[in-house]
Parts: sequence; structure tokens; C-alpha cells
Amino acid sequence: MKGIILAGGSATRLFPLSKVISKQIMPVYDKPMIYYPLSTLMLAGIREVLIISTPRDLPMFRELLGSGEDLGMSIEYIVQYTPNGLAQAFVLGEKFLNGEAGCLILGDNLFYGQNFSTMLQRAARVEKGACIFGYYVKDPRAYGVVEFDADGKVLSLEEKPQSPKSNFAVPGLYFYDNTVIQKARELKPSARGEYEITDLNKIYLTEGTLKVETFGRGFTWLDTGNCNSLLDASNFIATIQNRQGFYVSCIEEIAWRNHWISDEKLKKLGKQLDKTDYGQYLLNLE
Ligand code: G1P
Repeated sequence: MKGIILAGGSATRLFPLSKVISKQIMPVYDKPMIYYPLSTLMLAGIREVLIISTPRDLPMFRELLGSGEDLGMSIEYIVQYTPNGLAQAFVLGEKFLNGEAGCLILGDNLFYGQNFSTMLQRAARVEKGACIFGYYVKDPRAYGVVEFDADGKVLSLEEKPQSPKSNFAVPGLYFYDNTVIQKARELKPSARGEYEITDLNKIYLTEGTLKVETFGRGFTWLDTGNCNSLLDASNFIATIQNRQGFYVSCIEEIAWRNHWISDEKLKKLGKQLDKTDYGQYLLNLE
């Protein structure tokens, strides 16, 4: 299973900041936003990642993460010239996936909760079909929405419905088998002119191979779409980290715990940042 992070778009609700900096580079408390989705892929055991972004922003991600070697990973980059829909990620990523199954995560989606790694690793084992998630929110109208029957069977999927059939929003984290590229190619643009991820998921639903797992009340999925939600996300991460002392989405720590980098490498990375709390955290891991 390979991973794709889609980190594009104009992020107009974050103007004027996003006029000069990619939204996914902006800090969520003490680290760039893209560390959060990258860490989710890493927790799923995914070591080969493609980052898709705009011509303006892609060099920033390349400078930040390089070849991925420091994390014991391989990170590649590709430009999306026009932001015409999430499902396009698979058309752009065809060469990268090279016939393998793929997981897509949006560069601004932040997940946190107990047993998350176990859920991710289960989803990453998908051989036939797709696995997506449902998360209860007060107002799901800005999202893909999934409707279940009394037995938990999926009845429908709708993109940004005016009158949602349930409160379950579909977060930006999707696991697909290797038929995903062919399916993405079949899609037609929606009324808003985009190749919709929800339409891709509907193909799997019709085929009878779509699995939807729900995250419970104790789980956190945060949105970082505007200044308030960005600040909320920062405060949330600060609260957890300062209370427990464990960092959330510390990519070097995860690489080390996954045995993708050695103790020596971790120390070296920590020393490079030893004037910061982040560096000290790396140096004191055991
Ligand atoms: C996209 C998807 C939507 C999903 C959401 C998650 O919305 O189209 O189905 O629920 O991401 O963040 P967009 O970011 O395009 O508004």
C-alpha cells in the first residue's frame, strides 16, 4: 500500500496568509500542518508517499521533507496544475502507484485518538474494495455524508448535501484497492466542475465493496479550513502535548518507533534541533 497526500487548493478562507504560504505548511501549534496527515500514513505502515500540490507550493514541501530518507521513507512530489477534484489524485498518481493499492489523505485533515494505528493498519490491508470512515458531526453539510440503516449497512453517500440524511461526515482519509485508477478515470466532473471523491466511493458502494468504519465519540477529527478552526486545532494539540508530554504527530518519533530509523539517526535529527523543545523531545525519547 502506497500513500498520497493532496496538499493543494487556494484556501481562500485563510487569506491573506494563504496568499503567500501554503495552508498545509502553516503551523498547527508547533509543527507544519502536513506533519499530521503524513504521520497518519506512517501509523498505517505506509513508507512510500506522493505529495501532490500546486506549482507554487510544491517546492516548499520538497524543502521541508526532501526525499524522505531522514524518516526511512521515500517521498515523491508531483504538481497538480488545476485543483479539479480529489479523485484526480489517482490519475496524477498512476505512475507512482504502479499497480499497487493506494491510500489518499487530505493535507489539512488531522486525526487523533486511541487505537487509531490498529484501525489504520486494518484498513491498509484492504485487498479488494475500499475502506473509508464516518465521523459524527453537528453540521455535516460541508462534507461527504454517509447514511447507514439500523444494522450499520451503508445506504447512500452524498457530497455536501443541503439536507443531510445523517450526521456522519466522511473524513479525508480513504483506502482503495488497485482498481482505483481505472475507476477514477471513469469519473465525470460534478456540477461544481470537480472529480469528486464521493463519486469514486459511490462506484465501490454500487460494486458492493465499500467498507465504512465509524470513529467513536472519543476520537478527534479536526478541520483546519479557516482561522478559527486552525486556532482550535493548535490549542487542541497544545493541550494534549503539554498535559501528557507526548508529542502528537512527531514524524521522527513515529519513524523511530516503526524501526524505520536507527537510535543514532534519531539522535542526529534531535541534535539538529537541540535549541528547540522539539529537538529536546527527540533527544529524550526512550
Ligand atoms: C472534501 C471531500 C468531502 C470530505 C472532505 C473532508 O471536501 O469532497 O467529501 O468530507 O473533503 O475534509 P472539500 O475539502 O473539497 O470541501
